[in-house]
Amino acid sequence: MNSSSQKISAVMRNYGDPKLEFIAGKGSYLTSTSGEKYLDFTTGIAVNSLGHCHPKLVTALQEQSEQLWHSSNLYRISQAESLAKKLIANTFADRVFFCNSGTEAIEAGIKIIRRYFFHTGHQQKNRIIALTSSFHGRTLGALALANNPTQAKGFLHGDGGFDQVEYGNVDELKRTITDKTAGIVIEPIQGEGGIRVAMKDYLAEIKNLCEINDLLLFFDEVQSGVGRSGSLYAYQELGIQPDLLATAKGLGGGIPIGACITTESIAEAMTPGTHGSTFGGNPLAAAAANAVLDEILSPNFLREVKNNSRYLFTKLETLLGQYPNLLRDVNGMGFMVGLGFHEDASEVVKLAEEEKLLLVKAGRNYIRLLPPLNISIAEIDEAIEIIERCLQRCS
Ligand SMILES: Cc1ncc(COP(=O)(O)O)c(C=O)c1O
Repeated sequence: MNSSSQKISAVMRNYGDPKLEFIAGKGSYLTSTSGEKYLDFTTGIAVNSLGHCHPKLVTALQEQSEQLWHSSNLYRISQAESLAKKLIANTFADRVFFCNSGTEAIEAGIKIIRRYFFHTGHQQKNRIIALTSSFHGRTLGALALANNPTQAKGFLHGDGGFDQVEYGNVDELKRTITDKTAGIVIEPIQGEGGIRVAMKDYLAEIKNLCEINDLLLFFDEVQSGVGRSGSLYAYQELGIQPDLLATAKGLGGGIPIGACITTESIAEAMTPGTHGSTFGGNPLAAAAANAVLDEILSPNFLREVKNNSRYLFTKLETLLGQYPNLLRDVNGMGFMVGLGFHEDASEVVKLAEEEKLLLVKAGRNYIRLLPPLNISIAEIDEAIEIIERCLQRCS
């Protein structure tokens, strides 16, 4: 017997060694292998936007799976065409590139920015600026872009053509922009680094710097997108329009799909052969994403998200008042919510799991609340009661 067959798992240990496993999901709940039900405020890290096994998503997948799963981008894919039309009808964009994940959507955006300046005769403009404590994914380009030592250590050689500027520091940003700068990438709501909504004034200053210096503004809405902010995309809440936007996670509701969307004049640079993806926008994934968007864009859906989010914020702010020794702040927008602690929030995540509520950390001191967008008030109440019990156990 070789050493690997004696181990519990043959999966690489980059995710640690999780013990809990789920075998079924319905709405806002997951069922574990031991048959216990958990209230899911993690949603696969902002992926299951409609909860688990939403009937419309199940039907869309069943119907598509009996027709065609995959053809290739060698051929026209009507499901991807209709998804792209929905995205452009509801955003600033005119063109869509489909891929399979958030980091690929970021890679696509990086390439589009560079290719745009190459195509328009400004090859020297190829450096891209990101902000500190950003997270843009795990491919080499996305790692080098954020250059966060927690994820990048041991992987990067050279700066990859990226600069990082302290979040919120406009003077440093101005100093960093040169005639080689091509674009700026921002998460309008930072996720992994700790939930932080960009101030409108800050975004307006960045937009202005982009206009003055002929730079492209690229929003990473991989986590904040697809209704999570209470609008389809957070930029619509914040009132600042980017030139490119990366979306993924919630778009497929659990089926892997991502996209980079941009305007016609920028997309013109992406002539045939400049980029591609074997699976990107395949009929099965696009059918799922069409069903997700149809639901999220249906009348009243986003209004409900906003109403229920206000309810959640009110409840969390009450807890903030009750537990000032433990809690520092409540942050976020829509259903991308961070509850800030004075200390490391790991213990609360662990206690909540014992109480059958799934939460995920953001940065060191935040717990993230990422419920399904169609969560009910009763389920929010249940989560708040559990969080309160955990806070009592910590005090
Ligand atoms: C803002 C942001 N960008 C990019 C990514 C990378 O997405 P993926 O893990 O799908 O590659 C994530 C994932 O957490 C994210 O939150």
